[in-house]
Amino acid sequence: MNKNKYYITTPIYYPSDKLHIGHTYCTVATDAMARYKRLQGYDVLFLTGTDEHGQKIEDKAKEAGVSPKQFVDNIVEGPRGVLDLWKLMNISNDRFIRTTDDYHVASVQKIFRKLYEQGDIYKGKYVGKYCKPCESFWTESQLVDGKCPDCGREVQNAEEDAYFFRLSKYADRIQDLLENTDFLEPRARVNEMVNNFIKPGLEDLCVSRTSFTWGVPVDFDPGHVVYVWVDALSNYITALGYDNDKYEDYDSFWPADVHFVGKEIVRFHSIIWPAILMALGLPLPKKVYGHGWLLLDGGKMSKSKGNVVDPYILAERFGVDALRFFLLRTFPFGSDGNFSNEALIQTINVDLANDLGNLVSRTTAMAEKYFGGTLPANQQTDEALDGGLTAMVSALRGKYEAAMERFQFQDALAEVFQVISRANKYIDENAPWALAKDMEQNGARLARVLYNLLETIRVCTVLLSPFIPSSCEQIFERIGACDACRSWESAAQWGSLSATVTVSKGANLFPRIDAEKELAELEALQAEAAKAALPALEIEPYAQEQVDFDTFCKSDFRAVKVKACEAVKKSAKLLKFTLDDGTGTDRQILSGIAMWYKPEELVGKTLVAIVNLPPRKMMGQESCGMLLSAVHNEHGEEKLNLLMVDDAIPAGAKLC
Ligand code: MSP
Repeated sequence: MNKNKYYITTPIYYPSDKLHIGHTYCTVATDAMARYKRLQGYDVLFLTGTDEHGQKIEDKAKEAGVSPKQFVDNIVEGPRGVLDLWKLMNISNDRFIRTTDDYHVASVQKIFRKLYEQGDIYKGKYVGKYCKPCESFWTESQLVDGKCPDCGREVQNAEEDAYFFRLSKYADRIQDLLENTDFLEPRARVNEMVNNFIKPGLEDLCVSRTSFTWGVPVDFDPGHVVYVWVDALSNYITALGYDNDKYEDYDSFWPADVHFVGKEIVRFHSIIWPAILMALGLPLPKKVYGHGWLLLDGGKMSKSKGNVVDPYILAERFGVDALRFFLLRTFPFGSDGNFSNEALIQTINVDLANDLGNLVSRTTAMAEKYFGGTLPANQQTDEALDGGLTAMVSALRGKYEAAMERFQFQDALAEVFQVISRANKYIDENAPWALAKDMEQNGARLARVLYNLLETIRVCTVLLSPFIPSSCEQIFERIGACDACRSWESAAQWGSLSATVTVSKGANLFPRIDAEKELAELEALQAEAAKAALPALEIEPYAQEQVDFDTFCKSDFRAVKVKACEAVKKSAKLLKFTLDDGTGTDRQILSGIAMWYKPEELVGKTLVAIVNLPPRKMMGQESCGMLLSAVHNEHGEEKLNLLMVDDAIPAGAKLC
């Protein structure tokens, strides 16, 4: 049978840093959608990948002392890199594209040349602003308070010979596409695009750069590389085999059914991408869906702000399915949502442990306890007691499907969990433990109650399988679901499970989490990870101002020996030193180093002091001079080492 095709994509990720939970969010959502479509019987192609060119990557590689390709290889293929993360998260992508793949590079060159030869790309001079972190060009009028309108960071002046794409030529068609079709969703994003970008006038887009080399070379003009967004957007068709021999899926899978993208890159996908496709004379994707951001403390996660959450840590602690579930159950896909560890633990405890986990374990445990695991054929329905539950289950697939088709994962899951709660209530209403007291009288009724529960679990499990695939596999095994009972069709067929099914209880699927303990541990782990993400070593910037030699010589540095050292009362920082400075009279110096040294470990050491500073009082005590120390930052933490010199140097020796 020729199956219907379904082509779905995530944005391809910049491997400039390790991916965080925000990136994971979009990929998990795309994965759930792809699995749902496969469940429905579609022939799905789910594409993800990495967008590896651009100045930011070139700069980062230089900083790391490696080639750009080595740099991206490490983040994509290296330990705990992009590929590892998708494997861990059970992402079922059918294809993975890297924009450094030869076939992609060659296709992009052909696309660029084609657009140039037909006059949609022309050569000119670029004068404007460039945001390096976003790899975006802006005109003066698009800046917000002189800064990048996307990320709010400083932009740079840019002027160079460049190629331009005639974006302006497509303005009317794009406006019509956005306003009069369902191309872009959620709808609110349409107004944003039309009002902020199209109505003020779409300018032609600069599509080549000469100031760096890490990109797809323009093959007919050496020195120019293709603008990274033209390179990146083309991935959606090159990965199908457009203009290359690597794949042969273009004709069957293009146009894409949906591109899932974060809200800040909707502009590229709903204006620039359709214009490029129009120029190439190709069909447009059926839909672009701009999802919201996962925020942390109300702000966007970013490595430079040091507020990213590591999906590895969460998946390893709570389980992959629990994390996948949380992301799609908690946040409405089209809007922003605030990530928190508390919310994650709460969702796991309430939905997975209490509601789903309990329903499965209570039902299978009772089937084992009362019937040795296999239900008898003799079962007795009670319409008054069963009707409510069976009606809800029968209506579930339709409601779920309606939400999934709108990409409202949260709503789809809410429908399933309403049924799960209803089933838990059904257990209490029917009190199987009471029925079990008289098996002769009530055995048939008890069997039917358990069968109804197993059927409810089965239908819910079919519908949950795109979200928590491994757990659903386990549940299917436990409730004895045959292959046909796991299908999309069977989710609308009450009674698919054999009446005399055999079940097994198994271990706890979703253990309850001790929130307080877990939160404390997580906080410590995440602080550690955040610290490790900071530069290993940072030294103070060098002074710009010069000091003339005579001024410098006025400072009197002496070797001093520590005779005694003690903490200053009521001060967390200060230590009080009694020093032999060679004059025969003790010198007292206070120094704010208590965080780094215990007083007793300093006695007897030979240190360096500047001794001709005017005396000053600290915490009521006089300090006559200052001890020299070396300071630097390690993983964001300030480190200090007192300058200690050879003990052979006598007290009072002048340092010069
Ligand atoms: N390389 C471009 C995409 C090119 S597509 C032809 C890019 N890469 S990215 O790595 O910066 O971001 C990839 C996706 O992750 C974007 O859709 C972005 O919105 C999403 N997210 C990054 N941080 C996010 C959150 N905190 N929350 C949700 N999504 C986030 O853009």
